[in-house]
Amino acid sequence: MARTLDDVVAEGVAGRRVLVRSDLNVPLDGSTITDDGRIRASVPTIRALASAGARVVVTAHLGRPKGAPEDRYSLRPVATRLGELLDAPVAFASDTVGDSARATVDGLADGQVAVLENVRFNPGETSKDESERAAFADQLAALADVFVSDGFGVVHRKQASVYDVAQRLPHAMGGLVAAEVEVLKRLTETPERPYVVVLGGSKVSDKLGVIDNLLGKADQLLIGGGMVFTFLAAQGHQVGTSLLEADQLDTCRDYLRRAEETGVQILLPGDVVVDTAFPSGDRTPQPQVVASSAMPEDAMGLDIGPAAAADFAAALRGARTVFWNGPMGVFEVPEFCDGTRVVAQALTEVEGLSVVGGGDSAAAVRGLGFDEASFGHISTGGGASLEYLEGKALPGITVLED
Ligand code: 3PG
Repeated sequence: MARTLDDVVAEGVAGRRVLVRSDLNVPLDGSTITDDGRIRASVPTIRALASAGARVVVTAHLGRPKGAPEDRYSLRPVATRLGELLDAPVAFASDTVGDSARATVDGLADGQVAVLENVRFNPGETSKDESERAAFADQLAALADVFVSDGFGVVHRKQASVYDVAQRLPHAMGGLVAAEVEVLKRLTETPERPYVVVLGGSKVSDKLGVIDNLLGKADQLLIGGGMVFTFLAAQGHQVGTSLLEADQLDTCRDYLRRAEETGVQILLPGDVVVDTAFPSGDRTPQPQVVASSAMPEDAMGLDIGPAAAADFAAALRGARTVFWNGPMGVFEVPEFCDGTRVVAQALTEVEGLSVVGGGDSAAAVRGLGFDEASFGHISTGGGASLEYLEGKALPGITVLED
């Protein structure tokens, strides 16, 4: 059992330096944050610690820099946004474990918060070499007395600030990680039935493990997004110029066969919205609805069609548990967002547990203007929630269990 945030607060954190690993990896347009969902989700744990008098030191990553500083991946704008959300000043260290970090942490008074610069600016963070990671984790751990792991979106990464640092400090699971794990446990251990899973996004190769596992657990799998064209091709359909992972055709055939054997229904869209090219700035989209079994040779599938969206919504209406990961189409472009919108709307009407599984799907529901409160749970971790559903042990969680 991992110790909880409540345990840490109850033991007394006033005056102690608490290192919090958050996932503040938000989309940016220049230095403008386009979706602050992950920062907002990180606030309660940080606030609880600060209110209890801790000196809170937040470590996080942004993007995938290659172990060296890069301006465009600086956490500075994120620290500013965190300060706005906390309604309190947030100090910012311009490095992660160097002079600035040490001075910033030393300058914190009880109840104050600091954010350290992008932890991935340090090669030790993501190194596969255990000793390099260990050396960096030693430096991070030296900045604190206690570690709270609250970055759910990274718990599937065996990285210094997620895994190794927990071995060096008294540690606990943050409120966000605890809440995410509780929901995922309900999905994997006690799903109320029917249990319907909606999968989208571009690549089937990103979802192999989860499909494999869900074939034995879910009642119905609804598949849309770019990945559906590999399934349609596996059924023998021509998919024009749509995304196609030729090396996954056999795998998809195998899934379709296993689904039939196990009685899991895989629902593929009967119609799709196509265009002759991927939407780009200078071209007006020319969407066309066609049957998925009769796609023209020059057609590129960019969304599920209206009939398919209605079928998916009907399936969701009867569900008692739903997990959704991956948009149904190119939802950022109005001509190709309807499939995603209809699925999102149907999720808000589920009588039971509806879970939006992080990353693009979470950004899609917010971007399309849905009220977050109308979903049972919006996960902050795309990859992490998928790996959990695959049944994998997540290093950032197992390391917390004593
Ligand atoms: C995410 O965006 O899913 C998390 O922040 C993890 O990021 P990563 O895939 O770069 O490790």
